[in-house]
This record gives sequence, structure tokens and C-alpha cells, in this order.
Amino acid sequence: MAFSIQKLLIQAYMKWFPIPLPPPDSFKDQTVLVTGGTSGLGLAAAVHFVNLGAAEVIITSRNSARSKTALATIERETGGRSKGRVRVMDLDMSRYASVVAFAEEVKKINRGKGGIDTVVLNAGLSTVEPTRGEEGWDQNIQVNTLSTVLLALLLLPWMKAERANRSAPAHLAVVGSGRHLEPNIQEWKEWASETSLLEHFSKPENWPGSSMMYATTKLMAQYAVNELVKMALGPDGHPEVIINTMCPGLVASDLSRDLNKMGIVVALIAPIFLGIFAKSPSNGARTYMAACLTTESEHGKFIKFYSSDADYQEKADVVITGEDGREMQALVWSEMKAEFTAKVPETREILKL
Ligand SMILES: NC(=O)c1ccc[n+]([C@@H]2O[C@H](COP(=O)([O-])OP(=O)(O)OC[C@H]3O[C@@H](n4cnc5c(N)ncnc54)[C@H](OP(=O)(O)O)[C@@H]3O)[C@@H](O)[C@H]2O)c1
Repeated sequence: MAFSIQKLLIQAYMKWFPIPLPPPDSFKDQTVLVTGGTSGLGLAAAVHFVNLGAAEVIITSRNSARSKTALATIERETGGRSKGRVRVMDLDMSRYASVVAFAEEVKKINRGKGGIDTVVLNAGLSTVEPTRGEEGWDQNIQVNTLSTVLLALLLLPWMKAERANRSAPAHLAVVGSGRHLEPNIQEWKEWASETSLLEHFSKPENWPGSSMMYATTKLMAQYAVNELVKMALGPDGHPEVIINTMCPGLVASDLSRDLNKMGIVVALIAPIFLGIFAKSPSNGARTYMAACLTTESEHGKFIKFYSSDADYQEKADVVITGEDGREMQALVWSEMKAEFTAKVPETREILKL
């Protein structure tokens, strides 16, 4: 079960008592990139970044009508401060070609002058039924895991190289979910002995349900980001880019846009449930601000405010940091590396490092 009573009460508490926003000039003069800025948390994060002083905020979109609406919302929510400071770039994470083309464009921004200060990989989805995407994998895995990790992987060497032109490391924050602690990796071991996990989870007959599929995509992404955290270190052992994953907790956004396909009961109950327990995107995106202001010593940390670090560590020991978790991380990462090097030539040099 995804939510215990205790967890739900904490979520409801955070809805009414949000974590504070950082000081108004926290992102002063920064260039910020947020993927998936057309709705929910990404849109709300763009508003916060403008209000907290960013000089340029780039959001991504795969639909021009949605990007126009998003720009209008940001302008309204920032009282017009966003004029000339927010722009939209095209990105469709269901296709590697789009991710690669996007990464190439991003790498032209402030090239040789420090690059981008803050990157938030936020775009994600949760479908209610299995759907294979163009690259052959379940669409949840494609967007939340493979394309998110690919984009991070393509940007990381460039961001590291730009460290020499900066006074402090840039931030790369990947939106995960606390749900990544839920999958049973003993089952994964069994399935992996028969076929690749990417293949297993992409077969409609193995669909674990919408909720567990979402948790699965976030655990796979967490494993990969843990590897990127190591790759981000410079020769002196200090991070050249500060990487974090994060979870805002339960947020009422468009993520559950397909829930009505699950029947009338779910369609009726979901808004009531979210109305009681879920925070607004603006509230949830406060966690993003915190995750983008972490210090070097917090490099690699999973940022969340609804549970203690000790509580997280205890659960992470089962799926990530314990022996089984480490083994599973190595396996998932090797599947992803094989996928990327086979289909995305641009990753071959990077993955040799
Ligand atoms: N809501 C929660 O309770 C919650 C909790 C923890 C973590 N998260 C994470 O927060 C992130 C944002 O989700 P949200 O809740 O704000 O949901 P949302 O309102 O549905 O926003 C998702 C964003 O991702 C974009 N996106 C979806 N598929 C894409 C694709 N193939 N290519 C490019 N962009 C794509 C969407 O673009 P379109 O407008 O074109 O669809 C939208 O801008 C996700 O990573 C989610 O897993 C959410």
C-alpha cells in the first residue's frame, strides 16, 4: 500500500504548513532549466524561480498551445516579472532523438561562461494502462527513467566542464519520488534471471498496475542517478556538479489526468482524496527550490521534507544501499548503459569514462 494513515497525515500537515521559501534573491541572475514546465510542479517551479531572482528560466514543452498557456500563467503568477525572462524549448521525452537534439541546444547556452546554473529534470508521467512507446519500452519507463537519465547523462560532462568557468558547482536536480522505496527487488531478481528488467516491465502481461509501475520507474531512475552522482566528482573528490533527487510529497497536479479511465468510482474519489491530502503545485515546488540550493556536502542526497533522514536510510537499506540493492543498481545501470550505447551514439564516449 502506497500510503499509511501516518504518511497521509504528514502529507495533510504539509499541505497546510508548507516549508518556507528561500530568500528572494536565492537564484539571482541565474539561468535555470526546468523540463516539463507546462503544468503542475514544473510550471509552479518556473514561477518560483522567476520570483526568486532568476535572470532566465527555460521551460520545455511538447505542445505549443500548452506552452502559450504556461507562459501566460507564469506572467500572471509573477505579476509580469517574467516578461523577457522565460522562454520555451521543445522536448518530447518519448523519443531519444528529441532528447539528444534538446541536449545539443542546451549545451550552447552560456557556453564557456559557466553554462546553466540550475537544471531541474521534472518532466514525468503516470499512465493508468500499459503503453509501449516509440523506442520499444513502456512509456512510463521511457519518460520517467530512460529519457530522464539520458538527458542527465548528456548534460553532465558539459556541466562538469563548465565548472572551471564558475565560482561554485551548478545544480542538477532530478525529480524522483519517495515511492521508489516500494518495489520488491527480490521479485526483480527473479524476473531479471529470465529477461532484462526493461523488457519485463514493458510487457503488458507483466504490468504491475499504474501505481507500482510509477514506483518502479522512480527506483530505476534513482539507481541511475546514484551512478551519475559518482560521475559528477572531480579529480579532487569534490562534486563538479551537485546532483540531487527529490520528492515534493503528494501534489494535486495533472499527473493523475488519466485516472478517470480507471472507472467512475476512482474518478469521483480521487479529487476528494487529493483535495484533503495533496498540496498545491506551488507548495510542492518549494521542495524543488530547496533541492536546487543544496551544498556540496549534500551531493547525492534524496531531498524530501515529509520524513527524517534516518527513516529514509532504513528503507533505502532494503532497496538501494544494502547488498541486494547494490546488486540491483548495478544490474539496472548495466541495462541502461547497454540501451543507451546501442541506440544513442552520443553516449558511447561518455559511458567509457
Ligand atoms: N504529483 C505528485 O504527487 C508527485 C509526487 C512526487 C513526484 N512527482 C513528480 O513530479 C514531476 C512533475 O509531475 P507533476 O505532478 O507536476 O505532473 P504534471 O502536472 O502532469 O506535469 C508533468 C509535466 O511533464 C511533461 N511531460 C509528460 N510527458 C512528457 C514527455 N513525453 N516529454 C516531455 N515532457 C513530458 C508534461 O507535459 P505536457 O503538458 O505536454 O503533458 C508536464 O509538463 C514528475 O516527474 C512526477 O513523477 C509528482
